[in-house]
Order: sequence, then structure tokens, then C-alpha cells
Amino acid sequence: MRIESLELNNFRNYRSATVKFGDGLNVLHGKNASGKTNLLESVYLCSIFKSPRTSKDKELVKLGEDSATVKLTVARKFRSHTIILHIDSQGKKKVVVDGVPILRAGELLGTLGVVFFSPDEMKLVKEAPSERRRFLDVGLSQQQKSYFISLQRYGKTLKQKNNLLKEYRHSSNIDDMLDVWDMGLAKEGALIIKRRLQYISTLNAAAGKFHNIISGQKEELKLSYENGMSEEALLSDDLEQYLLRAIKAAREKDKELGFCTVGPHRDDIKIELDGKDSRKFASQGQQRTVALSMKLGEVVIFRDGIGEPPVLLLDDVLSELDETRQNLLLKMTQGFQTILTCTEYDLPVPADKFLICDGTVAKD
Ligand SMILES: Nc1ncnc2c1ncn2[C@@H]1O[C@H](COP(=O)(O)OP(=O)(O)OP(=O)(O)O)[C@@H](O)[C@H]1O
Ligand SMILES: [Mg+2]
Repeated sequence: MRIESLELNNFRNYRSATVKFGDGLNVLHGKNASGKTNLLESVYLCSIFKSPRTSKDKELVKLGEDSATVKLTVARKFRSHTIILHIDSQGKKKVVVDGVPILRAGELLGTLGVVFFSPDEMKLVKEAPSERRRFLDVGLSQQQKSYFISLQRYGKTLKQKNNLLKEYRHSSNIDDMLDVWDMGLAKEGALIIKRRLQYISTLNAAAGKFHNIISGQKEELKLSYENGMSEEALLSDDLEQYLLRAIKAAREKDKELGFCTVGPHRDDIKIELDGKDSRKFASQGQQRTVALSMKLGEVVIFRDGIGEPPVLLLDDVLSELDETRQNLLLKMTQGFQTILTCTEYDLPVPADKFLICDGTVAKD
């Protein structure tokens, strides 16, 4: 798929701007604080509905203005879609796709598929487990709406259960109430874990290949799902029952702590290089190579899963990588529409170039 045009009104530092993108590599270059990341953020919002860098959506509206609008047209294999995103001064977002208002974020997912590379994403390996869960959740939700729905249901139930554990842990009938929440958590939780297991197994193969290429066949990368359950439980058709038992076994501890300690909201991706845990032992360069391999794996899985290439958003990542990795990444972008930001572009790869300057866009 390919973004044809993007229009911004009162979004971040843009008053009013229109960009018509080329089919291949699009480079946004300009000084620091000129608005390059802001522009990528607006595209990301039209895909994932959430900003990659803030949870306070009112920050997206240009200072002093009442509302912001992003209008994006995407050409897909069989038809085009127009996405209009409106953000008011309270940070409330509304989306209209092809003239029809969208009521839930889940309905937007899948309209525009993106894979986002940023210096933060390059820290995936050493970040907290929550970042690696987010990596899984964003990748899976874009491909499978049912995953996103399970995730939302799970999150809601978990919040209610944690509330109960915090506020009413000493009340006499708490166990009956917890039984109800636990059943819901085990049902959605088992679905989430199963999908993550499949995803990681495919990712392990795809990322492993990239890692081999980048590291010159020197090390072997292994990705697996990390949670407290046994392999037998994870592979079982009865995962839901196993999970329910594990959740219940932790109940007394959870009551003491005041929150729920077992389930997919606590899981992680185990990342090993030659059998050693990369999250702890890998050097910075190795960690970056692994993160890049994982992101490239995400791209391939996405393309194969939906039968169309996603759009690649590369925010300032070239500066994070050495020449070998830069070249590999740029080679990978062939066949994908790519929007790349940098302060100066001096690579020999042909590109449509746009100069970003204080919230304005001019084609070079
Ligand atoms: N709501 C807003 N209203 C007005 N300006 C904003 C708003 N939010 C952010 N900005 C401004 O946008 C600028 C940052 O833009 P952005 O992060 O896109 O820069 P950049 O070009 O990616 O820079 P760098 O090269 O340093 O990454 C800052 O000057 C910031 O003050
Ligand atoms: Mg930036």
C-alpha cells in the first residue's frame, strides 16, 4: 500500500501543509525541531490511532488553536481510502474513513498499515518488558482485529480486577467476585498468548535471517515467549484452563500486593544470542542489531500476512546505525513506500526529497 497525500491543519507546529508522496523512498530533511517527526507522527496516528510519543493527545493540536485535522489518502491493492482524523483542544479524537465515522479504534486498524522505526524502537532489547509487549501488540493488532479486541477486553477486565484487589481485598466475598474476573481473564488471556506464540515463532525465523546477514553469520539469535507457564501448558489445547489455574494460584499473593501478577500483561519476549540473554548481556551494538532484525522481521511478517507491503516510517534511524546496517535497511526498503527523516541526506539512493522548515514542507 502507498500513501498518496497527506494534509495537516493546525497539527503540532504545522499551520497548513500538503504533501504528495512518491511510491518509493521519500526523504524529509530539515533542521532539528523543524517538524519532521511531527509529520511521521500524524501518519502513525492515521494507522494506529495512538501517538508513538505521547498519551496526551491535546499536545497534538497546534498551540493556541482549537483543533487539528489530518487528512490522508492511501492507495491499497483494490481500492483507495481517505482517512480524516480530527483532534479537539481537549485531546478527543474522531476518525472518518471514506465518509463514515469510526466509533472504535479497532475499526480503523488495518486501513493503513505502517511499521515505525525510531531511535526508541532501536532500544527495544534493553527497554522494559512493556515495550516488547507493545511491539507484539502493535504488530499483531494491525494484522488481526480479533487480537486487538481480545486485548481491549483483557485490559478492561484486568483494570476492574486490580481495582477490586486494591479496594476490597479484605472484604469477605472478594473470592466470589474474583472468580468471575479470573474466568474472563483466562479466556481472553489464552487467546492473546496463543497469537503471540505464533507470532514469535514466525518472527524468530524472519528476524534470525536478518540477524545472520547483519552480523555476518557470527551469532545465532533466538526469540521465544517468556511467561511463567510450562512448555506443556503453552502448547496445550487447554491453555485457558492452565492459565486459570496459574491466576488462581497467585491469588493470595495478588491480594497482598493489590494487583494481578499473572497473565499476558506480565509476559515478555526472551531474546538470546548464542544462548545468552541479550536483554542483560548484549553490547549496545548487538542490541541495536537485534532490534533492527526484529523490526525487519515485523515488516516481512506484515507483508506476507496481509498480502501487501506496509508503509515504512523511518524516524532518524540512519544516524543510529553504521554503514553496513544503513545499507541493509535501505536495501530492505525497496519494494516498500518509505518515509524517512534525517537532518541531512547524502546517500546515493534516489529519493523524492522534501525540505521541512518550521512547519512547512517544500518539494526539493
Ligand atoms: N502542539 C504544538 N504546537 C506548536 N508547536 C509544537 C507543538 N508540538 C510540538 N511543537 C514543536 O514542534 C517542534 C518539534 O518538531 P519535531 O519533533 O517534528 O522536530 P524534528 O524535525 O523531528 O526535529 P529533530 O531533528 O530534532 O528530531 C518543536 O519546536 C516543538 O516546539
Ligand atoms: Mg525528530
